[in-house]
Amino acid sequence: SQELKHRLETTIENIPDFPIPGIQFKDISPIFLNPKLYEEVIEDLVKFSKGKVDSVCGIESRGYLFGIAIAVALEVPFILIRKAGKLPPPVVSEKYDLEYGSAEIETREGHIKKGQRILIHDDLLATGGTTEAAAKLVEKQGAEVVQFSFLTALKDLKGEEKLKKFNAEIYYILEY
Ligand code: PRP
Ligand code: MG
Repeated sequence: SQELKHRLETTIENIPDFPIPGIQFKDISPIFLNPKLYEEVIEDLVKFSKGKVDSVCGIESRGYLFGIAIAVALEVPFILIRKAGKLPPPVVSEKYDLEYGSAEIETREGHIKKGQRILIHDDLLATGGTTEAAAKLVEKQGAEVVQFSFLTALKDLKGEEKLKKFNAEIYYILEY
């Protein structure tokens, strides 16, 4: 709703030039000082996914802050997508390019089941690189990404373009 959007807008803090010059950092941590607001955010994200997914995948680390609560409310499994090297074997991995260098994400093997309809959740859609890699990781395990959800999206970075090929619904509460 417009009201929730507005309250989030005034709660999320914009920090210019962090972590490097030119970046406008969106700090979501003040949301957790306000349990009522947190609850409403979860309610909103749950409404988007209700009855549509078999599992929720959350992306380390800020994707966990809301992802688990969404999965619990939907009464479906929550699957951790972690940065490489954190989960014990056997794992399934996906490499992706960053502005400088590369990164890798992983899930435990067997947590994502063939044929499942998956929601990928993260706090922020920026360039879309992280989410795209997560979706590839899901697909190579024989499951289908049917939805992406975020709290916020940075429209100028055109992350949505990278997600089009998955033919999944995309939702974010607020855009910058
Ligand atoms: C941030 C954010 C998203 C990702 C978005 O995570 O939480 O996961 O970047 O960027 P992209 O769309 O350009 O890929 P970060 O890697 O900073 O780690 P964190 O969640 O552990 O703080
Ligand atoms: Mg993140």
